[in-house]
Amino acid sequence: MTTAPARPAARVRDLVKTYGTGQARVRALDGVSVDLAAGEFTAVMGPSGSGKSTLMHCCAGLDTADSGSVLVGETELSTLKDKALTRLRRDRIGFVFQSFNLVPTLTAGENILLPLAIAGRRPDPELYDRVIETVGLAPRLGHKPSELSGGQQQRVAVARALVSRPEIVFADEPTGNLDSQSGAEVLSLLRRSADDGQTIVMVTHDPVAAAYTDRVVFLTDGKVTDDLRDPDRDQVLEIMARTSAASAHVAPGAAEAQGA
Ligand SMILES: Nc1ncnc2c1ncn2[C@@H]1O[C@H](COP(=O)(O)OP(=O)(O)OP(=O)(O)O)[C@@H](O)[C@H]1O
Ligand SMILES: [Mg+2]
Repeated sequence: MTTAPARPAARVRDLVKTYGTGQARVRALDGVSVDLAAGEFTAVMGPSGSGKSTLMHCCAGLDTADSGSVLVGETELSTLKDKALTRLRRDRIGFVFQSFNLVPTLTAGENILLPLAIAGRRPDPELYDRVIETVGLAPRLGHKPSELSGGQQQRVAVARALVSRPEIVFADEPTGNLDSQSGAEVLSLLRRSADDGQTIVMVTHDPVAAAYTDRVVFLTDGKVTDDLRDPDRDQVLEIMARTSAASAHVAPGAAEAQGA
């Protein structure tokens, strides 16, 4: 059943982001507007290079756009000074990087607790246990990232984003390196987090992963080209086929395989 969307947890208006200059100039975001409703699980999909990671970075205050605005709750990010922006990122936003961004000298357990340690907070023990159990990391908490597989590192990154229970979690391909069983567990955890009121935004290339969400926003060449509610796998596949026919096709996962 579709219910009316809740109040937005984040609002993006006319966001434009370009990289490079002259011949090498790329319009990574070309006027993106989207409302992210509180407590919704949204997937962002689109061909490689369509601007998904750029959108996530700008929404999370990790990168600044050329023009347009991002509101997290009632806070317009571009009005914040460095310190206030750092505090907002630390207290209200969780981020799972496409490239994990773990601290190599810390163990998995220390990495997971780092954002809370920086904020001077302790984890909610029940949530901590549930997250660690779901991502299956209990036997690996004492290992450094270099001693973990790509999939295990990805699960550390997901756990790190969730244990502080931020209002919004941005996850950039959080299941891209996982086998289907671990992927399903991480997706169920994200689904449950949204059902408990967290706002989750996830980049994915996988129509099965998209089917866990409430909504799929499709980007093509830096623009929103489709917006699908209560998606099922076949609807997503149909739009993916249409989108990839319209722009240069890169197979799902190819970007990671190339180390992008
Ligand atoms: N730091 C950067 N410098 C120059 N160009 C960049 C930079 N980051 C991204 N781009 C370009 O901006 C566009 C959008 O990139 P982005 O990483 O957002 O795509 P994506 O949809 O996340 O792709 P993928 O599915 O491969 O992760 C691409 O053309 C990319 O080459
Ligand atoms: Mg990306």
